[in-house]
Amino acid sequence: MQNRSNEYRMSRPQTEPDLWWQEGVLYQIYPRSFFDSSGDGVGDLAGIISKIDYLSSLGISGIWLSPIYPSPMKDFGYDISDYLDVDPTFGDLSTFDRLLSELHSCGIKLIMDLVPNHTSDRHEWFIEASSSITSPKRNFYIWADPGPDGGPPNNWKASFGGSAWTYHEPTGQYYLHSFLPEQPDLNWRNPEVADAIRDVMRFWFDRGVDGFRIDVVHMLAKDPELKDDPPDNPFAHVLSRPEVHDYVRLLRATADEYEGRMLVGETFVLDVDYLLEFYGNGADELHLAFNFPFALCGWNARYMAKILERTLEKIPAGARPCFMFSNHDLPRHPRRFGEASIKPAAVLLLSLPGTPFVYMGEEIGMTGKTPPKERLLDPGGRDGARTPFQWNRSPNAGFCPPDIEPWLPVSDDYESVNVEVEETDPSSTLSLYRRMISYRNGSAALKRGSYSPLRIEDKLWVFTRKADDDEVLVAVNMSDEPADVDLSSAFANPLRVAVSSLRELEGSVISQDIQIPPNSALVAEPVASEASS
Ligand code: NOJ
Repeated sequence: MQNRSNEYRMSRPQTEPDLWWQEGVLYQIYPRSFFDSSGDGVGDLAGIISKIDYLSSLGISGIWLSPIYPSPMKDFGYDISDYLDVDPTFGDLSTFDRLLSELHSCGIKLIMDLVPNHTSDRHEWFIEASSSITSPKRNFYIWADPGPDGGPPNNWKASFGGSAWTYHEPTGQYYLHSFLPEQPDLNWRNPEVADAIRDVMRFWFDRGVDGFRIDVVHMLAKDPELKDDPPDNPFAHVLSRPEVHDYVRLLRATADEYEGRMLVGETFVLDVDYLLEFYGNGADELHLAFNFPFALCGWNARYMAKILERTLEKIPAGARPCFMFSNHDLPRHPRRFGEASIKPAAVLLLSLPGTPFVYMGEEIGMTGKTPPKERLLDPGGRDGARTPFQWNRSPNAGFCPPDIEPWLPVSDDYESVNVEVEETDPSSTLSLYRRMISYRNGSAALKRGSYSPLRIEDKLWVFTRKADDDEVLVAVNMSDEPADVDLSSAFANPLRVAVSSLRELEGSVISQDIQIPPNSALVAEPVASEASS
Protein backbone atom coordinates (compact mmCIF):
# COMPACT_ATOMS: atom_id res chain seq x y z
CA MET A 1 0.00 0.00 0.00
CA GLN A 2 1.33 3.45 -0.85
CA ASN A 3 2.02 5.98 1.80
CA ARG A 4 -0.16 8.73 0.43
CA SER A 5 -0.18 12.35 1.43
CA ASN A 6 -3.15 13.86 3.17
CA GLU A 7 -3.36 16.62 0.62
CA TYR A 8 -6.90 15.61 -0.24
CA ARG A 9 -9.64 14.70 2.18
CA MET A 10 -10.52 11.07 1.58
CA SER A 11 -14.09 10.30 0.61
CA ARG A 12 -16.14 7.43 1.99
CA PRO A 13 -15.03 4.12 0.51
CA GLN A 14 -16.23 3.37 -2.97
CA THR A 15 -19.07 1.06 -3.59
CA GLU A 16 -18.71 -2.80 -3.60
CA PRO A 17 -15.70 -3.61 -5.81
CA ASP A 18 -17.48 -6.19 -7.96
CA LEU A 19 -20.34 -3.78 -8.62
CA TRP A 20 -17.95 -1.05 -9.72
CA TRP A 21 -19.60 -0.31 -13.05
CA GLN A 22 -23.17 -1.05 -12.00
CA GLU A 23 -23.23 1.02 -8.84
CA GLY A 24 -20.15 3.20 -8.85
CA VAL A 25 -19.52 6.64 -10.29
CA LEU A 26 -17.14 6.65 -13.26
CA TYR A 27 -14.87 9.49 -14.34
CA GLN A 28 -13.46 10.35 -17.75
CA ILE A 29 -9.87 11.56 -18.08
CA TYR A 30 -8.76 13.22 -21.30
CA PRO A 31 -5.06 12.57 -20.73
CA ARG A 32 -3.62 15.44 -22.78
CA SER A 33 -5.33 17.88 -20.46
CA PHE A 34 -5.23 16.37 -16.98
CA PHE A 35 -1.74 16.95 -15.57
CA ASP A 36 1.61 17.46 -17.29
CA SER A 37 4.41 15.93 -15.23
CA SER A 38 7.09 16.09 -17.91
CA GLY A 39 6.91 19.82 -18.60
CA ASP A 40 6.13 19.66 -22.31
CA GLY A 41 2.71 21.28 -22.02
CA VAL A 42 0.80 18.04 -22.60
CA GLY A 43 -0.69 15.83 -19.88
CA ASP A 44 0.76 12.36 -19.36
CA LEU A 45 0.37 9.09 -17.48
CA ALA A 46 2.89 9.98 -14.77
CA GLY A 47 0.79 13.11 -14.25
CA ILE A 48 -2.29 10.98 -13.64
CA ILE A 49 -0.32 8.80 -11.22
CA SER A 50 0.69 11.89 -9.26
CA LYS A 51 -2.99 12.83 -8.91
CA ILE A 52 -4.33 9.51 -7.73
CA ASP A 53 -5.00 10.86 -4.25
CA TYR A 54 -7.22 13.48 -5.81
CA LEU A 55 -9.06 10.89 -7.91
CA SER A 56 -9.50 8.73 -4.86
CA SER A 57 -10.82 11.66 -2.86
CA LEU A 58 -13.69 12.01 -5.33
CA GLY A 59 -15.10 8.61 -4.34
CA ILE A 60 -15.16 7.34 -7.93
CA SER A 61 -15.04 3.63 -8.77
CA GLY A 62 -13.42 3.76 -12.17
CA ILE A 63 -11.76 5.88 -14.83
CA TRP A 64 -12.25 5.94 -18.57
CA LEU A 65 -9.01 7.07 -20.14
CA SER A 66 -9.27 8.58 -23.63
CA PRO A 67 -6.66 7.12 -26.04
CA ILE A 68 -3.02 6.99 -25.01
CA TYR A 69 -1.77 4.83 -27.91
CA PRO A 70 0.92 5.87 -30.41
CA SER A 71 -0.71 8.29 -32.79
CA PRO A 72 0.14 11.06 -35.25
CA MET A 73 -2.45 13.03 -33.20
CA LYS A 74 -4.39 14.31 -36.19
CA ASP A 75 -7.49 13.55 -34.09
CA PHE A 76 -5.60 13.74 -30.78
CA GLY A 77 -5.22 10.02 -30.24
CA TYR A 78 -8.34 8.72 -32.00
CA ASP A 79 -6.06 8.05 -34.98
CA ILE A 80 -4.11 5.08 -33.65
CA SER A 81 -0.94 3.86 -35.33
CA ASP A 82 -0.30 1.04 -32.84
CA TYR A 83 -2.97 -0.45 -30.59
CA LEU A 84 -0.45 -2.23 -28.41
CA ASP A 85 1.75 0.53 -27.06
CA VAL A 86 1.72 3.95 -25.42
CA ASP A 87 2.55 7.18 -27.24
CA PRO A 88 5.80 8.68 -25.88
CA THR A 89 3.87 11.92 -25.24
CA PHE A 90 2.03 10.06 -22.50
CA GLY A 91 4.75 7.68 -21.26
CA ASP A 92 5.39 4.01 -21.93
CA LEU A 93 3.96 0.61 -21.11
CA SER A 94 5.74 0.38 -17.80
CA THR A 95 4.29 3.73 -16.69
CA PHE A 96 0.93 2.45 -17.82
CA ASP A 97 1.35 -0.69 -15.71
CA ARG A 98 2.27 1.46 -12.73
CA LEU A 99 -0.81 3.62 -13.24
CA LEU A 100 -3.03 0.56 -13.42
CA SER A 101 -1.59 -1.03 -10.32
CA GLU A 102 -1.74 2.20 -8.30
CA LEU A 103 -5.34 2.79 -9.32
CA HIS A 104 -6.22 -0.77 -8.41
CA SER A 105 -4.55 -0.42 -5.04
CA CYS A 106 -6.94 2.49 -4.41
CA GLY A 107 -9.97 0.49 -5.53
CA ILE A 108 -10.31 2.37 -8.83
CA LYS A 109 -10.85 0.43 -12.06
CA LEU A 110 -9.47 1.49 -15.44
CA ILE A 111 -11.36 1.54 -18.74
CA MET A 112 -9.30 2.09 -21.89
CA ASP A 113 -10.58 3.62 -25.12
CA LEU A 114 -10.98 1.08 -27.93
CA VAL A 115 -11.17 2.56 -31.42
CA PRO A 116 -12.26 -0.31 -33.66
CA ASN A 117 -13.87 1.67 -36.48
CA HIS A 118 -10.66 3.12 -37.92
CA THR A 119 -6.91 3.28 -37.54
CA SER A 120 -4.42 5.97 -38.40
CA ASP A 121 -3.18 5.94 -41.98
CA ARG A 122 0.22 5.39 -40.33
CA HIS A 123 -0.87 2.07 -38.81
CA GLU A 124 1.14 -0.83 -40.27
CA TRP A 125 -2.11 -2.47 -41.42
CA PHE A 126 -2.96 0.51 -43.61
CA ILE A 127 0.59 0.95 -44.84
CA GLU A 128 0.54 -2.69 -45.92
CA ALA A 129 -3.03 -2.52 -47.30
CA SER A 130 -2.21 0.48 -49.45
CA SER A 131 0.99 -1.05 -50.81
CA SER A 132 -0.88 -2.90 -53.56
CA ILE A 133 -4.35 -3.97 -54.62
CA THR A 134 -3.36 -7.57 -53.92
CA SER A 135 -1.91 -6.92 -50.46
CA PRO A 136 -3.02 -9.54 -47.90
CA LYS A 137 -4.19 -6.63 -45.73
CA ARG A 138 -6.06 -4.85 -48.55
CA ASN A 139 -9.37 -6.12 -47.30
CA PHE A 140 -8.73 -4.77 -43.77
CA TYR A 141 -10.03 -1.46 -45.13
CA ILE A 142 -12.89 -0.40 -47.39
CA TRP A 143 -11.77 0.32 -50.94
CA ALA A 144 -13.88 1.14 -53.98
CA ASP A 145 -13.31 2.03 -57.59
CA PRO A 146 -13.99 5.62 -58.66
CA GLY A 147 -17.60 6.50 -59.54
CA PRO A 148 -18.68 6.76 -63.19
CA ASP A 149 -17.47 10.37 -63.35
CA GLY A 150 -14.08 9.38 -61.93
CA GLY A 151 -14.97 10.99 -58.58
CA PRO A 152 -15.77 9.34 -55.21
CA PRO A 153 -17.82 6.11 -55.34
CA ASN A 154 -20.85 7.76 -53.69
CA ASN A 155 -22.04 10.81 -51.74
CA TRP A 156 -21.08 9.67 -48.23
CA LYS A 157 -19.79 12.48 -46.05
CA ALA A 158 -17.06 12.39 -43.41
CA SER A 159 -17.99 13.54 -39.91
CA PHE A 160 -15.45 16.36 -40.02
CA GLY A 161 -16.72 17.56 -43.41
CA GLY A 162 -16.01 16.72 -47.04
CA SER A 163 -16.30 13.40 -48.79
CA ALA A 164 -15.81 10.21 -46.77
CA TRP A 165 -13.63 8.91 -49.62
CA THR A 166 -10.04 9.74 -50.44
CA TYR A 167 -8.42 8.72 -53.69
CA HIS A 168 -5.30 6.60 -53.36
CA GLU A 169 -3.36 7.40 -56.49
CA PRO A 170 -0.84 4.51 -56.43
CA THR A 171 -3.53 1.83 -56.44
CA GLY A 172 -6.25 3.73 -58.31
CA GLN A 173 -9.01 3.23 -55.73
CA TYR A 174 -10.75 5.29 -53.08
CA TYR A 175 -10.69 4.31 -49.39
CA LEU A 176 -13.42 5.10 -46.89
CA HIS A 177 -12.88 7.29 -43.84
CA SER A 178 -15.83 8.29 -41.67
CA PHE A 179 -13.64 10.93 -40.01
CA LEU A 180 -10.37 12.46 -41.30
CA PRO A 181 -8.62 11.12 -44.43
CA GLU A 182 -5.86 10.11 -42.00
CA GLN A 183 -8.35 7.78 -40.25
CA PRO A 184 -9.21 5.01 -42.74
CA ASP A 185 -12.19 2.86 -41.71
CA LEU A 186 -11.57 -0.79 -40.95
CA ASN A 187 -13.65 -3.32 -42.84
CA TRP A 188 -15.67 -5.25 -40.27
CA ARG A 189 -17.06 -7.52 -42.99
CA ASN A 190 -13.63 -9.12 -43.00
CA PRO A 191 -13.55 -11.57 -40.05
CA GLU A 192 -9.80 -11.04 -39.76
CA VAL A 193 -10.48 -7.48 -38.63
CA ALA A 194 -12.65 -8.69 -35.77
CA ASP A 195 -9.95 -11.23 -34.85
CA ALA A 196 -7.28 -8.54 -34.84
CA ILE A 197 -9.32 -6.16 -32.69
CA ARG A 198 -10.24 -8.97 -30.31
CA ASP A 199 -6.54 -9.66 -29.89
CA VAL A 200 -6.02 -6.00 -29.05
CA MET A 201 -8.64 -6.31 -26.32
CA ARG A 202 -6.96 -9.44 -24.96
CA PHE A 203 -3.59 -7.68 -24.87
CA TRP A 204 -4.97 -5.02 -22.53
CA PHE A 205 -7.26 -7.35 -20.58
CA ASP A 206 -4.24 -9.58 -19.92
CA ARG A 207 -2.44 -6.52 -18.54
CA GLY A 208 -5.34 -6.06 -16.14
CA VAL A 209 -7.52 -3.34 -17.61
CA ASP A 210 -11.12 -3.51 -16.50
CA GLY A 211 -12.98 -2.54 -19.62
CA PHE A 212 -13.22 -0.50 -22.78
CA ARG A 213 -15.14 2.50 -23.93
CA ILE A 214 -15.83 1.70 -27.57
CA ASP A 215 -15.51 4.57 -29.98
CA VAL A 216 -18.40 5.08 -32.45
CA VAL A 217 -19.51 1.50 -31.90
CA HIS A 218 -22.77 2.17 -33.74
CA MET A 219 -20.83 2.91 -36.94
CA LEU A 220 -18.95 -0.35 -37.43
CA ALA A 221 -21.19 -1.68 -40.21
CA LYS A 222 -21.62 0.12 -43.53
CA ASP A 223 -23.92 -0.48 -46.45
CA PRO A 224 -22.00 -3.01 -48.59
CA GLU A 225 -23.84 -1.84 -51.69
CA LEU A 226 -22.43 1.66 -51.20
CA LYS A 227 -25.77 3.29 -52.03
CA ASP A 228 -25.92 7.09 -51.87
CA ASP A 229 -27.27 8.54 -48.61
CA PRO A 230 -30.55 10.44 -48.92
CA PRO A 231 -29.97 14.21 -48.58
CA ASP A 232 -31.80 14.36 -45.22
CA ASN A 233 -29.84 11.50 -43.62
CA PRO A 234 -26.10 11.63 -44.16
CA PHE A 235 -25.65 8.64 -41.82
CA ALA A 236 -28.11 6.28 -43.50
CA HIS A 237 -25.25 4.07 -44.66
CA VAL A 238 -24.24 3.24 -41.08
CA LEU A 239 -27.54 3.33 -39.23
CA SER A 240 -29.85 0.35 -38.91
CA ARG A 241 -27.35 -2.17 -40.27
CA PRO A 242 -28.22 -5.34 -38.34
CA GLU A 243 -24.69 -6.75 -38.82
CA VAL A 244 -23.36 -4.20 -36.35
CA HIS A 245 -24.85 -6.31 -33.58
CA ASP A 246 -22.88 -9.36 -34.72
CA TYR A 247 -19.72 -7.30 -34.33
CA VAL A 248 -20.72 -5.99 -30.90
CA ARG A 249 -21.48 -9.55 -29.78
CA LEU A 250 -17.94 -10.53 -30.76
CA LEU A 251 -16.55 -7.70 -28.67
CA ARG A 252 -18.73 -8.76 -25.74
CA ALA A 253 -17.70 -12.40 -26.09
CA THR A 254 -14.09 -11.24 -25.81
CA ALA A 255 -14.79 -9.29 -22.62
CA ASP A 256 -16.64 -12.32 -21.26
CA GLU A 257 -13.48 -14.41 -21.61
CA TYR A 258 -12.38 -12.49 -18.50
CA GLU A 259 -13.91 -11.92 -15.04
CA GLY A 260 -15.73 -8.70 -14.24
CA ARG A 261 -14.81 -6.65 -17.32
CA MET A 262 -17.09 -4.03 -18.85
CA LEU A 263 -17.81 -2.47 -22.24
CA VAL A 264 -19.39 0.95 -22.53
CA GLY A 265 -20.29 2.14 -26.00
CA GLU A 266 -20.13 5.55 -27.57
CA THR A 267 -23.59 5.03 -29.04
CA PHE A 268 -23.85 8.53 -30.45
CA VAL A 269 -27.41 8.30 -31.74
CA LEU A 270 -30.36 10.45 -30.81
CA ASP A 271 -33.11 7.85 -30.98
CA VAL A 272 -33.41 6.16 -27.59
CA ASP A 273 -35.00 2.97 -28.89
CA TYR A 274 -32.23 2.55 -31.42
CA LEU A 275 -29.58 3.26 -28.81
CA LEU A 276 -30.99 0.62 -26.48
CA GLU A 277 -30.62 -2.03 -29.19
CA PHE A 278 -26.91 -1.94 -28.41
CA TYR A 279 -27.62 -3.63 -25.08
CA GLY A 280 -28.69 -6.69 -27.10
CA ASN A 281 -30.61 -9.08 -24.88
CA GLY A 282 -29.08 -7.47 -21.81
CA ALA A 283 -26.20 -9.90 -21.60
CA ASP A 284 -24.74 -10.30 -25.08
CA GLU A 285 -23.81 -6.80 -26.33
CA LEU A 286 -22.75 -3.68 -24.42
CA HIS A 287 -22.83 -3.53 -20.64
CA LEU A 288 -23.50 0.22 -20.87
CA ALA A 289 -24.43 2.56 -23.70
CA PHE A 290 -23.98 6.31 -23.25
CA ASN A 291 -27.39 7.96 -23.38
CA PHE A 292 -26.67 10.80 -25.82
CA PRO A 293 -30.35 11.72 -26.30
CA PHE A 294 -30.49 12.53 -22.58
CA ALA A 295 -27.25 14.53 -22.60
CA LEU A 296 -28.28 16.54 -25.62
CA CYS A 297 -32.00 17.24 -25.11
CA GLY A 298 -31.38 20.45 -23.16
CA TRP A 299 -31.78 21.57 -19.54
CA ASN A 300 -35.45 20.78 -19.50
CA ALA A 301 -37.01 18.36 -17.05
CA ARG A 302 -39.87 17.36 -19.33
CA TYR A 303 -37.54 16.35 -22.17
CA MET A 304 -35.08 14.67 -19.84
CA ALA A 305 -37.72 12.75 -17.91
CA LYS A 306 -39.31 11.57 -21.12
CA ILE A 307 -36.00 10.12 -22.31
CA LEU A 308 -35.21 8.61 -18.91
CA GLU A 309 -38.64 7.02 -18.69
CA ARG A 310 -38.44 5.63 -22.20
CA THR A 311 -34.99 4.26 -21.37
CA LEU A 312 -36.23 2.53 -18.25
CA GLU A 313 -39.21 1.13 -20.10
CA LYS A 314 -37.25 -0.26 -23.04
CA ILE A 315 -33.90 -1.30 -21.59
CA PRO A 316 -33.50 -5.10 -21.35
CA ALA A 317 -34.14 -6.53 -17.89
CA GLY A 318 -31.05 -6.36 -15.73
CA ALA A 319 -29.24 -3.86 -17.96
CA ARG A 320 -28.30 -0.41 -16.70
CA PRO A 321 -28.73 3.00 -18.28
CA CYS A 322 -25.65 5.20 -18.51
CA PHE A 323 -25.75 8.97 -18.22
CA MET A 324 -23.32 11.84 -18.64
CA PHE A 325 -23.71 15.49 -19.47
CA SER A 326 -20.26 16.25 -20.84
CA ASN A 327 -17.30 14.62 -22.52
CA HIS A 328 -14.32 15.63 -24.65
CA ASP A 329 -16.49 15.98 -27.78
CA LEU A 330 -19.37 18.10 -26.49
CA PRO A 331 -19.32 21.70 -25.35
CA ARG A 332 -19.23 21.34 -21.55
CA HIS A 333 -22.77 21.33 -20.19
CA PRO A 334 -22.58 24.74 -18.45
CA ARG A 335 -22.21 26.16 -21.98
CA ARG A 336 -25.29 24.30 -23.16
CA PHE A 337 -27.45 24.47 -20.01
CA GLY A 338 -26.23 27.81 -18.60
CA GLU A 339 -23.83 28.29 -15.69
CA ALA A 340 -26.67 28.36 -13.15
CA SER A 341 -27.13 24.67 -13.90
CA ILE A 342 -23.68 23.59 -12.67
CA LYS A 343 -24.66 22.56 -9.13
CA PRO A 344 -28.22 21.33 -9.71
CA ALA A 345 -26.95 19.28 -12.68
CA ALA A 346 -24.42 17.61 -10.39
CA VAL A 347 -27.16 16.55 -7.98
CA LEU A 348 -29.35 15.36 -10.85
CA LEU A 349 -26.68 13.37 -12.67
CA LEU A 350 -25.66 11.61 -9.47
CA SER A 351 -29.27 10.84 -8.50
CA LEU A 352 -30.36 9.16 -11.71
CA PRO A 353 -30.94 5.46 -12.04
CA GLY A 354 -28.01 3.94 -13.94
CA THR A 355 -24.30 4.55 -14.09
CA PRO A 356 -23.11 8.18 -14.18
CA PHE A 357 -19.91 9.37 -15.86
CA VAL A 358 -18.37 12.63 -14.70
CA TYR A 359 -16.09 14.35 -17.23
CA MET A 360 -12.87 15.63 -15.62
CA GLY A 361 -13.20 19.27 -14.62
CA GLU A 362 -16.97 19.15 -14.38
CA GLU A 363 -16.54 18.51 -10.65
CA ILE A 364 -14.90 21.91 -10.23
CA GLY A 365 -17.37 23.66 -12.51
CA MET A 366 -15.11 24.14 -15.53
CA THR A 367 -17.18 25.85 -18.19
CA GLY A 368 -15.08 25.13 -21.27
CA LYS A 369 -14.99 28.41 -23.14
CA THR A 370 -13.66 28.12 -26.68
CA PRO A 371 -10.02 29.30 -26.82
CA PRO A 372 -9.09 32.24 -29.07
CA LYS A 373 -9.14 31.45 -32.79
CA GLU A 374 -5.39 31.44 -33.20
CA ARG A 375 -5.06 28.66 -30.58
CA LEU A 376 -7.65 26.28 -32.01
CA LEU A 377 -6.29 22.87 -33.00
CA ASP A 378 -9.09 20.35 -33.27
CA PRO A 379 -10.47 19.40 -36.70
CA GLY A 380 -13.88 18.98 -35.06
CA GLY A 381 -13.88 22.36 -33.22
CA ARG A 382 -14.00 20.73 -29.78
CA ASP A 383 -11.10 22.58 -28.14
CA GLY A 384 -13.31 24.25 -25.51
CA ALA A 385 -14.14 20.89 -23.93
CA ARG A 386 -10.45 20.01 -23.73
CA THR A 387 -8.72 22.96 -22.08
CA PRO A 388 -6.27 22.01 -19.30
CA PHE A 389 -7.59 20.92 -15.93
CA GLN A 390 -7.42 23.70 -13.37
CA TRP A 391 -5.49 22.61 -10.29
CA ASN A 392 -4.64 25.91 -8.61
CA ARG A 393 -4.26 29.66 -9.09
CA SER A 394 -0.67 29.67 -10.27
CA PRO A 395 0.07 30.50 -13.92
CA ASN A 396 -1.18 27.70 -16.20
CA ALA A 397 -3.47 26.68 -13.31
CA GLY A 398 -0.81 24.24 -12.09
CA PHE A 399 -1.42 22.04 -15.14
CA CYS A 400 2.13 22.49 -16.44
CA PRO A 401 5.13 24.58 -15.38
CA PRO A 402 4.47 28.34 -15.45
CA ASP A 403 7.10 28.99 -18.14
CA ILE A 404 5.72 26.38 -20.57
CA GLU A 405 2.93 26.99 -23.05
CA PRO A 406 0.19 24.40 -22.47
CA TRP A 407 -1.02 22.64 -25.64
CA LEU A 408 -4.35 24.47 -25.29
CA PRO A 409 -4.70 27.69 -23.31
CA VAL A 410 -5.98 27.50 -19.76
CA SER A 411 -9.45 28.95 -19.32
CA ASP A 412 -9.30 32.49 -17.92
CA ASP A 413 -11.54 31.67 -14.93
CA TYR A 414 -8.83 29.45 -13.41
CA GLU A 415 -8.09 31.76 -10.48
CA SER A 416 -11.50 31.09 -8.97
CA VAL A 417 -12.36 27.75 -10.59
CA ASN A 418 -9.67 25.32 -9.41
CA VAL A 419 -9.13 22.42 -7.03
CA GLU A 420 -6.99 24.29 -4.53
CA VAL A 421 -9.49 27.07 -3.94
CA GLU A 422 -12.55 24.81 -3.95
CA GLU A 423 -10.94 22.24 -1.70
CA THR A 424 -11.30 24.48 1.33
CA ASP A 425 -14.70 25.92 0.45
CA PRO A 426 -17.59 23.75 1.68
CA SER A 427 -20.00 25.47 -0.68
CA SER A 428 -17.84 24.94 -3.79
CA THR A 429 -18.82 22.77 -6.75
CA LEU A 430 -16.01 20.35 -5.85
CA SER A 431 -17.31 19.95 -2.30
CA LEU A 432 -20.80 19.30 -3.67
CA TYR A 433 -19.58 16.58 -6.07
CA ARG A 434 -17.68 14.92 -3.23
CA ARG A 435 -20.65 15.01 -0.87
CA MET A 436 -23.02 13.82 -3.55
CA ILE A 437 -20.78 10.93 -4.70
CA SER A 438 -20.15 9.93 -1.11
CA TYR A 439 -23.86 10.00 -0.33
CA ARG A 440 -24.67 8.02 -3.45
CA ASN A 441 -22.03 5.41 -2.60
CA GLY A 442 -23.83 4.80 0.69
CA SER A 443 -27.38 4.93 -0.66
CA ALA A 444 -29.04 1.74 -1.89
CA ALA A 445 -31.91 3.87 -3.22
CA LEU A 446 -29.64 5.96 -5.45
CA LYS A 447 -27.40 3.11 -6.55
CA ARG A 448 -30.03 0.58 -7.45
CA GLY A 449 -33.45 1.89 -6.50
CA SER A 450 -36.53 2.23 -8.66
CA TYR A 451 -37.53 5.60 -10.09
CA SER A 452 -40.99 7.18 -9.62
CA PRO A 453 -41.82 10.63 -10.94
CA LEU A 454 -43.74 12.93 -8.60
CA ARG A 455 -43.89 16.15 -10.56
CA ILE A 456 -42.47 17.09 -13.93
CA GLU A 457 -42.66 20.50 -15.55
CA ASP A 458 -40.31 22.10 -18.04
CA LYS A 459 -38.11 23.45 -15.26
CA LEU A 460 -39.04 21.28 -12.30
CA TRP A 461 -38.29 17.61 -11.75
CA VAL A 462 -39.30 15.86 -8.55
CA PHE A 463 -38.94 12.12 -8.22
CA THR A 464 -38.23 9.40 -5.73
CA ARG A 465 -35.77 6.52 -5.76
CA LYS A 466 -36.52 3.47 -3.66
CA ALA A 467 -34.71 0.22 -2.85
CA ASP A 468 -36.39 -1.94 -0.22
CA ASP A 469 -37.05 0.39 2.70
CA ASP A 470 -34.49 2.97 1.61
CA GLU A 471 -36.24 5.84 -0.14
CA VAL A 472 -35.07 9.28 -1.16
CA LEU A 473 -36.64 12.31 -2.69
CA VAL A 474 -34.84 14.17 -5.46
CA ALA A 475 -36.01 17.65 -6.41
CA VAL A 476 -34.42 19.76 -9.13
CA ASN A 477 -35.52 23.30 -9.84
CA MET A 478 -34.05 24.42 -13.15
CA SER A 479 -35.75 27.80 -13.21
CA ASP A 480 -34.87 31.25 -11.92
CA GLU A 481 -37.96 31.22 -9.69
CA PRO A 482 -38.58 29.26 -6.49
CA ALA A 483 -40.84 26.23 -6.90
CA ASP A 484 -43.46 25.11 -4.37
CA VAL A 485 -43.87 21.39 -4.11
CA ASP A 486 -46.47 19.44 -2.15
CA LEU A 487 -45.07 16.07 -1.10
CA SER A 488 -47.97 14.92 1.04
CA SER A 489 -49.09 12.27 -1.45
CA ALA A 490 -45.66 10.66 -1.36
CA PHE A 491 -44.30 11.11 2.16
CA ALA A 492 -46.20 10.84 5.43
CA ASN A 493 -43.25 12.05 7.51
CA PRO A 494 -41.00 15.06 7.26
CA LEU A 495 -37.75 14.74 5.34
CA ARG A 496 -34.21 15.72 6.13
CA VAL A 497 -32.10 17.25 3.38
CA ALA A 498 -29.12 14.95 2.91
CA VAL A 499 -27.34 16.77 0.09
CA SER A 500 -28.18 20.05 -1.56
CA SER A 501 -26.61 22.28 -4.14
CA LEU A 502 -27.17 24.92 -1.46
CA ARG A 503 -24.94 23.69 1.34
CA GLU A 504 -26.81 25.62 4.03
CA LEU A 505 -29.95 23.55 3.45
CA GLU A 506 -28.26 20.27 4.33
CA GLY A 507 -29.47 18.80 7.59
CA SER A 508 -32.62 20.89 7.63
CA VAL A 509 -35.93 19.14 8.10
CA ILE A 510 -38.54 19.90 5.50
CA SER A 511 -42.24 19.33 5.69
CA GLN A 512 -44.57 18.04 3.01
CA ASP A 513 -44.90 21.54 1.61
CA ILE A 514 -41.50 22.59 0.44
CA GLN A 515 -40.10 25.40 -1.57
CA ILE A 516 -37.14 24.58 -3.81
CA PRO A 517 -34.98 27.67 -4.33
CA PRO A 518 -34.21 28.79 -7.91
CA ASN A 519 -31.53 26.84 -9.79
CA SER A 520 -31.05 24.36 -7.00
CA ALA A 521 -31.48 20.70 -6.27
CA LEU A 522 -31.66 18.50 -3.23
CA VAL A 523 -31.79 14.93 -2.10
CA ALA A 524 -33.79 14.29 1.05
CA GLU A 525 -34.64 11.21 3.09
CA PRO A 526 -37.55 10.56 5.42
CA VAL A 527 -36.64 11.46 9.00
CA ALA A 528 -38.31 8.38 10.47
CA SER A 529 -36.43 5.91 8.32
CA GLU A 530 -33.15 7.55 9.30
CA ALA A 531 -34.02 7.39 13.01
CA SER A 532 -34.90 3.71 12.82
CA SER A 533 -31.76 2.69 10.92
C1 NOJ B 1 -15.49 9.76 -31.15
C2 NOJ B 1 -14.41 10.33 -30.31
O1 NOJ B 1 -14.91 10.55 -29.02
C3 NOJ B 1 -13.95 11.58 -30.99
O2 NOJ B 1 -13.13 12.37 -30.18
C4 NOJ B 1 -13.28 11.19 -32.27
O3 NOJ B 1 -12.94 12.34 -33.00
C5 NOJ B 1 -14.19 10.32 -33.13
N1 NOJ B 1 -14.92 9.35 -32.40
C6 NOJ B 1 -13.37 9.57 -34.13
O4 NOJ B 1 -12.62 8.60 -33.46
